[in-house]
Order: sequence, then C-alpha cells, then structure tokens
Amino acid sequence: MITRELNTEQAKVDSGVLLETRGLTKHFAVRRGMFGRTVGTIKAVDGVSLRVPSGTTVGLVGESGCGKSTLGRCILRAHEPTSGEILFRREDGSVSDLARLSEKALKPYRRQIRMIFQDPYSSLNPRMTLLQIVGEPLKVNRSLSAGQIEETVAQLLTRVGLRPEYMRRYPNAFSGGERQRVGIARALALEPRLVVADEAVSALDVSVRAQILNLLKDLQQESALTYLFISHDLGVVEYMADEVVVMYVGKAVEVGATEELYHRPLHPYTEALLSAVPDPDPTARREQIVLGGEVADPSNVPTGCPFHPRCFYAKDRCKAEVPALREVLPGRQAACHFAEELSLRGIARTPAG
Ligand SMILES: Nc1ncnc2c1ncn2[C@@H]1O[C@H](COP(=O)(O)OP(=O)(O)OP(=O)(O)O)[C@@H](O)[C@H]1O
Ligand code: SF4
Ligand SMILES: [Mg+2]
Repeated sequence: MITRELNTEQAKVDSGVLLETRGLTKHFAVRRGMFGRTVGTIKAVDGVSLRVPSGTTVGLVGESGCGKSTLGRCILRAHEPTSGEILFRREDGSVSDLARLSEKALKPYRRQIRMIFQDPYSSLNPRMTLLQIVGEPLKVNRSLSAGQIEETVAQLLTRVGLRPEYMRRYPNAFSGGERQRVGIARALALEPRLVVADEAVSALDVSVRAQILNLLKDLQQESALTYLFISHDLGVVEYMADEVVVMYVGKAVEVGATEELYHRPLHPYTEALLSAVPDPDPTARREQIVLGGEVADPSNVPTGCPFHPRCFYAKDRCKAEVPALREVLPGRQAACHFAEELSLRGIARTPAG
C-alpha cells in the first residue's frame, strides 16, 4: 500500500542500510500574540542526512536542544517533517520514503519502528498492569486471543529479565531499572526492526545503567535489532554505538565509526564534548575544554559556521561561510572548513589507528 513510487536515486540506498535520512528538516513556527502570528522559525532539525546500517547501533549525540529527540520523532512520524526523506528498507528489500506516506500507508511501519523513552516513570501508565502495558500494542495490531497475549507478554517479560508472574502488578511496584525493562518489553512486543532509544538510561541510577545497556546489547544480538541510540552522554554512546552522529543546532557536524571518532575527532565541537567525558582511570588527568557562550539558539542561528561564536579555532571565513558536512577522511565526515588542518584531541583509551 505504498502511495508513492521511489525514483531511482532513492532506490539506491545501500543494501545493508535499514534507514537513511536525506536532508531531513523539522522547523517549528514561533507564534506570538492573540492571533498566533508567526514571528520566527525554530530550526530544530535542519537538513540531517544519516544512515543506520541493519543490525548496528548508530549513536546520536549533542548538547540539550540540538534536535536529537525531534529527529527521532520525525523518523517515527510523531512529528511531521518539514522536508527531506526518511528512506526505510522493507523486508522484501525495497525502499519506502516514510516522510511522504499517508497515515494509513504508514501503519505497517509503525510496528517495525518502535521507541524506548527516557523516563520509565512517566512513560508507563500507573493504572495499567504490566500485562496491559506490554500487551497493548499486541491488542491494537494483531488479532490474538487473551490467552495468546498473556503467553506472549510472559515471554517478553522473561526476555527482558523480569519474572512473568509480575504481569498482574502495577508499575509502582517496580524500581526505575525494572520499569525501563517493561518499556523495552513493550517496544519489542511487535518484533520491530528499528528501535529508537531516546535517552533510554539517562533517568536511571548509574548502578543500573550498565544492566539496561547490556540488556539492549543482548537483545540486539538475539534479534538482529537495529538501534538509533540518542543520548547526550558520550560515555554511554561509546559503549553502545558502532557509528556516531554529532549534532549541533539541528545539523550533523561530524559522522564516523565510534572508535575512530573518539580517538581522533575532526570537528572542534566533538573535541569539546569528548574532553568532558570522565576518564575511567582516576589518576589520569584530562583537560576539559570549557566552551564559552550558550548553545546557539535554533531560532536565531549564527551566520556562517553555527559553532563559530564558541569555537577556539574560528577564523574570519567561519563567520561568513557555512561549512558543508563532507568526507574529510575515508568514512569520516565533518562540517568544518579546517578539519584537515586541525589536530584535535580525542580519548586515547581505545586503540584506534
Ligand atoms: N513541539 C515543539 N514546538 C516548538 N519547539 C520545539 C518543539 N519540540 C522541540 N522544540 C525545540 O526544538 C529544539 C530541539 O529540541 P529537541 O527536544 O529535539 O532537543 P534534544 O537534543 O532532544 O534536547 P535534550 O537533550 O534536552 O533532550 C529546541 O530548541 C526545542 O525547544
Ligand atoms: S568551521 Fe570554523 S568555527 Fe566552525 S568548527 Fe571549523 S574552525 Fe570552528
Ligand atoms: Mg531529547
């Protein structure tokens, strides 16, 4: 039930890629006054092109407000994109542009792309039992009997490390980590192919974070899942992601394989973010780069390179000319005029080349 034929360019999404966005953009109108007059535009996501290969984890990082969640929500079509493409590989290998599908045509994809939310407290309805919470998507999307739903929920709870006998209890009987396991079980109920995890462990105690991250990794192995893993925590992303996309004010400013990007960043913004990652060795001293100024306002983006007011390496050209995201090294992209000349500091704990 695809409403739009893809042109040959779109059909050229690499065969190993499950999701590819091209120039994905989401602008929100800023409205004021009694009549809701539009007085500006928030460029929350501004032309992001990224690829998520099947069976891998792509990490999306950047400071608060850079557009990570908005991008994730556009992929799920929880937000209507302003423009751009969301190319998703179907099970038969063909590619659909989710950005242009009608609500009806989107339905099968809503099963295949699911989300894990940040806050395991507010994202679970306190008046529903685990059976109802985890079983709800099964009810909506499949014609299963009550007994079959119960059986499937029991299996899902077991998969995420919870005892199936808990299914008649309510969320308030559980800890944050256990609730996040429930959220994961719910996300997995319809056997999705892509999971968008938005700050999935940020609200959890440090002590349970590793357990949830390891659970996500185990589930990925078992079911060949693909993750878009959104987090402001670069330490967590280093552990989870095969590739990383760094965002700054709605744009991707650096893309690369995790180990290489952490070892040798190509964008000054990535260098600054990495300098704040705590070193596991308490005796090691790493100098943190403290960025001046605030994160740029997406309704009033600086001219030229959006990062130039905060960048220690900025030159006159940076104020005038927008740097394009381009391949600087094989498989490494950065949006910086001087990426080749700068020798930026990364985190040397991974033995990258
Ligand atoms: N529904 C909306 N209406 C208007 N502006 C919005 C809306 N949702 C997000 N924004 C704005 O878009 C920008 C990007 O927000 P977004 O939530 O995507 O950032 P984020 O990177 O996920 O931040 P955080 O790390 O805090 O979760 C922000 O300036 C935010 O205020
Ligand atoms: S283009 Fe200029 S301002 Fe932007 S990151 Fe590179 S050096 Fe800094
Ligand atoms: Mg967010």
